[in-house]
This record gives sequence, structure tokens and C-alpha cells, in this order.
Amino acid sequence: MHSTANPLREGLVESRRPQPFTMIIFGAAGDLAHRKLFPALYNLMVDHWLPHQVNVVGFSRQPFDDDNFRKEIKHSIEQFSRQPLNADVFDQFASGMHYISANFNDPQAYIELRNLLTRLNEEQHLPGNYLFYLATPPSFYPIIAEHLGAVGLNVSPSEQGWVRIIVEKPFGRDLASAIELNAQLHKVFDETQIFRIDHYLGKETVQNILVFRFANGIFEPLWNRQYIDHVQITVAESLGVEGRGTYYDTAGALRDIVQNHMMQLVSLIAMEPPVVFEADAVRDEKVKVLKAIRPLSTRDVTQFTVRAQYDEGYVEGSMVPGYLDEPDIPSDSRTESYMAMRLLIDNWRWAGVPFYLRTGKRLAKRATEIAIQFKKAPHRFFNQTATPDLEPNLLTLKIQPDEGIALRFGAKVPGPVVRIRTVNMDFLYGTSFADQAPEAYERLLLDAMIGDSTLFTRKDEVEAAWSLVTTILNGWERAKGPIPTYEAGTWGPPEADELIARDGFRWRRP
Ligand code: BG6
Repeated sequence: MHSTANPLREGLVESRRPQPFTMIIFGAAGDLAHRKLFPALYNLMVDHWLPHQVNVVGFSRQPFDDDNFRKEIKHSIEQFSRQPLNADVFDQFASGMHYISANFNDPQAYIELRNLLTRLNEEQHLPGNYLFYLATPPSFYPIIAEHLGAVGLNVSPSEQGWVRIIVEKPFGRDLASAIELNAQLHKVFDETQIFRIDHYLGKETVQNILVFRFANGIFEPLWNRQYIDHVQITVAESLGVEGRGTYYDTAGALRDIVQNHMMQLVSLIAMEPPVVFEADAVRDEKVKVLKAIRPLSTRDVTQFTVRAQYDEGYVEGSMVPGYLDEPDIPSDSRTESYMAMRLLIDNWRWAGVPFYLRTGKRLAKRATEIAIQFKKAPHRFFNQTATPDLEPNLLTLKIQPDEGIALRFGAKVPGPVVRIRTVNMDFLYGTSFADQAPEAYERLLLDAMIGDSTLFTRKDEVEAAWSLVTTILNGWERAKGPIPTYEAGTWGPPEADELIARDGFRWRRP
């Protein structure tokens, strides 16, 4: 099928415009709704992605009425929206907002919700499409799902209608609880209705990993153990726990970042090309990678993982407290704010190529990147004096900030003698594309509205990621004694340097 038309453009806009629907946000008065969900909905409306009439029902414990709720949303858009507040668009947005103030376990409130949705369908001749969003503490997920099922809101009142449910992270806290949560949700919703969100997949640069690998002919032939020496994935934050101490201390870096965001990055970098770019075909390939990761024994956990907590130090010129002195953190906490690990993927493409992962809070700077180091040139053609500091080729996918892709290679220094220096070829998103990229939540909400689950995590995917992470959690649980520390504002503990140095490598400085 050779055509000069661009299938990605043809009909694209229309096929991505959702049918009229009502979105119901549980936890609508919470931080996530305030910072991310309302601004994302508003931006989708400004950019004309939404149908003319959108109803948003907030469901939360806070005692708001519809008017207070609208004011709250206005405030959230003023503070966090990518695009400034436009009074006309906001008025249209606000006209579809409703609020139910109730406890999540109050059966009566779900009857009230069903009545409200029925009334909106009748008044506005809507087809009965419902998008539920669970933005509550995770302990309420099964409760809300059960109540929705009890009042029949897990199926649309009309034959052509749809009902979907978006579930926020954390999705479980280990393998057993993730399996249990999946089972609880499946009692009410089938898998095609469940959209487990991981906001990393909504990032433009993360989606570009697949485009870079599979829309270009020159990289994929090199993308394997023959040419790649090792891979380093870094998710570094300069922020600390930022008022989320109560949550963070029950999670730690492994659950908060590695189980979801970093496992997504590993699977996108390592997966085989899917046959088609469709939800299940893509997710099948991602799951295969997760299942091919070599399980860690208790001894491997000691040898190939490092966890640590930050001590006080200077970040961006200011003194910051250590992890144990942060609000809501118990003074004897053993929760890690940093973790590093080495993993191996036992398949034909990756056998023997180590993947090093590290993530932490209060590191030297914010940087998320994937660095792929290629093997050295096979024959040292130029003598040592010409190449004192020649480093192997390195391809860096910079996810954030300074989004872009860089290729490092050796170049001849101008002059009459052969001297070679390492230089970079850089692609910068900001320079190549003038458009402002949408926020991750905008992209993901729109996908859920049109029913495209490619960028959402499937049941087997979430369980495969937890399976690996749970072995590490169990290994750590057995280890006694204090956990290492690192000074805030540095690149982590010396133990992490030792982990990678044992294989003859060192961490990159992003
Ligand atoms: C969230 C974590 O999932 O991701 C936070 O809970 C973390 O602890 C955040 O700060 C990082 O996201 P981003 O988009 O800023 O890289």
C-alpha cells in the first residue's frame, strides 16, 4: 500500500473528537483535580478538542455547592492552566459543571449521581456516555467501583453509549494488592472500560520514543546487543517531598517512580516493533519486555539495587532539610527517596546488555533522560594521542526539561594534526517546533474520551511491573540496619556509583 497521503493527518482531527459525554470526577476537590484535571479539560476546550456540550460532575467530601465548585475550578485554571483564562470559554465550560458533596461510601449519593446523569441525558439529549475518574486516595477505588456497579452506572443507559473509568496511581502497593485491585475492578468493569493512567505516557517526548525508533530506518538496525553497550535511565528531581510526606513515606522512590514511570520507559526503549500501532498490539510488546526482565534473587537485590535517603544540603542555592526532617516523615523512616538498580532483559535482542536505572528526589537538578551508549569502534585506527578523551557514541533521549535528542560522536579538531574530540549533534524540540506542547493530562484525557487505551497500562502490564518491584521490596524488607544517605543537591549516594562502577561504567551527568 504505497500512498503519498499522510495517514496520520487524514481524518485525524475528526476521529479524535469525542462524542458528547459527562465526566464524573471522584475527589474533585483534591490536589490532582485542581492542578491537573481541570486545567487539562479547560485547555482541551480552548483548543476545540471537546464537543460543544461537556458536563463535569465533581464528587467529593468537601461541602461545596455548584457555584463554589465553579469558583474553585476558575481558581485552578487561573493558577495552573497552560493557556490563560478566557472568560467566554470559561463561562461555557462552567455552564456544564455540577457538584455532589458526599462520602464515597454513601449509597444514597450514587443514586443522586445516577439521577443527575439521567436528568442531564434527558435535558440535553445525550447518548449516556460516562467517563469516571478516580482521583481519590486509592483505598476508595474498590468502594467507588462497587457503588457504581450497584446503581448500574457501570453500563451506559443507551445501546450506543459507553462507560469508562480512569484509575490514578498508585495502582496497588505490591503484586498481591495490585492483583486484588484488578479483581475488584473487574467485578464491575471489563478491561476495555478500565484506563489505568500513567502520566509519563502522555508526555510528548515519551511518545516520541516509539516514533524515533519505528518511523526512522537508521536506528532500529543498531538497537540491539550487537551495537549497544548499556543503557542508563535517569529520573532526577531537585524537589523534595513537597508537602506530600504522608503519602510519600508509604511509597518511596521504587513505588512512586520505578514501578510505573520507569518501567514504562524501559518497555518503550526495549520493546519489539508492534505489528500495528493499536492499543493491544503495542501493549502486548511492552508486556513481553517486562516479563523478560530477569527476576532478582534476594542476593541480587543486595548486589544490584541501592536505596538511600537525602540528608540536608544545598539545592539551587538554598539550604534544604534532610528527608527525616521533612513534615509528616517519621524520624525513624526507612523509606527511600533515591533508588538505583541494574536490570537485565533476557531476550534475543538484549541478552547481556545492562540497563541501569536511577531516580531520586533532591538531586542536583531535574532531568529525565534515557542514554544509550554504543560499543566502541572495533578497531583503534587513530592512535591514542589523537584520541585521549574520545568517548563511545551516546544517544540521549531527553524527556525533560530541555526536551530533545542528542548524538555524541568524535570529530576531528581542525588543524594539521589528527586530534579527535567528542561533539554533540542536537535536536531540540523548542527550536524545531514552535507549537506549545499539550500537557500529558490533556493528551491522556482526550485518549480516554475517544476510547483509545494505547497509552494506558493494561492489567497484565501493571502486574508484571509489580512482580519485579515486589521482589525488590521483599529483599529490602529483610535487610536490617540503616539505609545509606546522600547530601541533598548531589547526584546520590556513593553506593550507586559503586553499583555501576563494578561493571566498569559511571553514571552520566545529565
Ligand atoms: C509523580 C510522583 O507520579 O511523578 C511524584 O508521584 C513525582 O513524586 C512526579 O514528582 C514527577 O512527574 P514529572 O512529570 O514532574 O516528571
